[in-house]
Amino acid sequence: MSQTSPIVLEAHDLVKIFHRGSEDIPAINHVSLSIREGEFVAFVGPSGSGKTTLINILGCLDNPTSGKLSLDGRVVVDEGRVLSESALTKVRRDIFGYIFQKFYLIPTLTVQENVLLPFTFYRKPGADAEVGRILKLLGIDHRKDHLPGEISGGEMQRVAIARALINRPRILLADEPTGNLDTRRSEEIGELLKGLNRREGLTIILVTHNPALANIADRIIELRDGAIYKESWSSNREA
Ligand SMILES: Nc1ncnc2c1ncn2[C@@H]1O[C@H](COP(=O)(O)OP(=O)(O)OP(=O)(O)O)[C@@H](O)[C@H]1O
Ligand SMILES: [Mg+2]
Repeated sequence: MSQTSPIVLEAHDLVKIFHRGSEDIPAINHVSLSIREGEFVAFVGPSGSGKTTLINILGCLDNPTSGKLSLDGRVVVDEGRVLSESALTKVRRDIFGYIFQKFYLIPTLTVQENVLLPFTFYRKPGADAEVGRILKLLGIDHRKDHLPGEISGGEMQRVAIARALINRPRILLADEPTGNLDTRRSEEIGELLKGLNRREGLTIILVTHNPALANIADRIIELRDGAIYKESWSSNREA
């Protein structure tokens, strides 16, 4: 990543207000940011500070109440005007890979079948070869015929990462990907994400409570009360 890499995600003045009964909950308060291709950005902040809400909006899983979001120079939402649901589905599929704290693996499908899940509704030539490459890259190819119940938590998260990568996303979005893992496994997943960023040039947006994990990112954005409170750049960042 360099300062001249193209901007892949640009958010301007995002606001999200949730309504609970008669109460208005301002979850995101006027957030603007841009992320360049190949950046590794971590969002941190206390519970309830808006991390999940924000990355769900950035990842087109939720709409902002107001503000503008562009991906790859294309406006996805602007002051309440949103792309059609089918166009959004395509954006989600073509631009993003998602990883969540709960791995969301299908227990009755093998590792390989879980990774191929994104292709259930549309076939892609070469998918079977690609799954082999990705399982190897993540160090779980020897588990490909196992069921999720037969592998460890760290391995399950690797399978979820493999599934997120099978579509060759431009941006990997990860919300607390190590929240269900012990320290050792968390570090392994951190190393893996860092490797994907460095070696494959994958843009990564990570949410985490874990300071050690946040520190592997190039840039750390701290949220408080739904707003950007502080931003810092890692010293090990490449120019
Ligand atoms: N669907 C919803 N309806 C109403 N309020 C919500 C909804 N989702 C989130 N909120 C509120 O918005 C605020 C931000 O929540 P969010 O889940 O984004 O925080 P977070 O930083 O991800 O927290 P955590 O670290 O606990 O995951 C909180 O006050 C939360 O209660
Ligand atoms: Mg959250």
